[in-house]
Amino acid sequence: MNVENNRATDVIKTREADIANVLLTGEALKTRIAELGEEITQDYQGTELLVLGILKGAVLFMADLIREIKLPLTFDFLAVTSYGASTQSSGVVRILKDVERSVEEVHILIVEDIVDTGLTLKYLKENLSRRNPKSVKVVTLLDKPGRRKVDVVPDYNGFTIPDEFVVGFGLDFNEQFRNLPYIGILKPEAYRS
Ligand code: IMP
Ligand code: MG
Repeated sequence: MNVENNRATDVIKTREADIANVLLTGEALKTRIAELGEEITQDYQGTELLVLGILKGAVLFMADLIREIKLPLTFDFLAVTSYGASTQSSGVVRILKDVERSVEEVHILIVEDIVDTGLTLKYLKENLSRRNPKSVKVVTLLDKPGRRKVDVVPDYNGFTIPDEFVVGFGLDFNEQFRNLPYIGILKPEAYRS
């Protein structure tokens, strides 16, 4: 048990050398996620929700959020290609893993880690809407409106953040940093090499 714990701490310490500063602490995230859950619980009273997490970034946020939604719900995951190994959007969105059931007549709540250019979200909303759900809404943990390329507004947003590349709490750079328990700004030299 102790050995495992020490290893996990070591990994986090190593990664922390690449973090310029902490933008959102674990505590701040927890508090805001509870508020979002409450809001969603109020808005969807009397209905049943399909919560759709976008892999992999939204996994941590979604795990916390659904425990704050006091409604009957089911959840599933969608995987799409977006950035690959870069910090810039390619503009190409493709579904790699689709929902496992029909979403016809279902209230869909898409869970995103971050809305940046908006390309991913716009594509997903249009794609899911064509399948005749009852509704399609979006909750995102973070919103970077300064980088928007297409007109898309999340229905629920945890935090509006400046135009910086952030990692942690599910968000990655080259698949790393997802396990940080906070949102941090990556040092530019960490992705320049
Ligand atoms: P969009 O299509 O440009 O809105 O990009 C959305 C996806 O890009 C997110 O789901 C993230 O995976 C990734 N992304 C955008 N900005 C960041 C960031 O600052 N850090 C890590 N991933 C990001
Ligand atoms: Mg990513």
